[in-house]
Amino acid sequence: MKTDLLGRPDLELVINRFYEHVLADAQLAPFFNRHFRVHFDKHFPRMYDYWENVMLHTGTYNGNPMRTHQLLHAKHPLAASDFKRWLELFFTTIDELFEGPQAEELKLRARNIAFLMESRVTNVLPNEAIYEAMLPNSTSQLPPETAG
Ligand code: HEM
Repeated sequence: MKTDLLGRPDLELVINRFYEHVLADAQLAPFFNRHFRVHFDKHFPRMYDYWENVMLHTGTYNGNPMRTHQLLHAKHPLAASDFKRWLELFFTTIDELFEGPQAEELKLRARNIAFLMESRVTNVLPNEAIYEAMLPNSTSQLPPETAG
């Protein structure tokens, strides 16, 4: 039986498994191994810190992902379909491993951040229907994360 997501070790598990999916995905893998030079030894700890900060407000992350993705986009465009795929894989990963309110909360926050990120990076309002369909089974009324 699956349990709910708790602390940082669970978030690390999600990120590790997420990148297994990403790197096996025909649409997203090229961003990480062709279009951009990603140093995974540095990227993983930053992702752990980022998601720990989003979920547990630990203050461990000090980057600016909106800016990072704007810079990535300037080098190689990130399309709406790429954000959709990113979210699909993120949700699939969470559902594979965990079940419960915190797991739903993580999906909701990822969705909200992705919406903001897509609008800021592409300068086009994201397709509302796609993001509506990505609303997890959550009762949370928290405002969207701004992620810096
Ligand atoms: C189009 C979909 C996306 C692609 C192709 C993508 C790609 C990347 C790449 C290549 C990096 C590494 C940059 C580097 O090390 O220089 C990165 C970093 C990161 N991404 Fe994404 N990303 C996407 C969407 C998202 C979304 C939706 C989120 C959050 C919900 C996110 C969160 C992050 C974070 C937190 C970092 C670390 C930034 C830092 O180093 O401080 N990404 N992304």
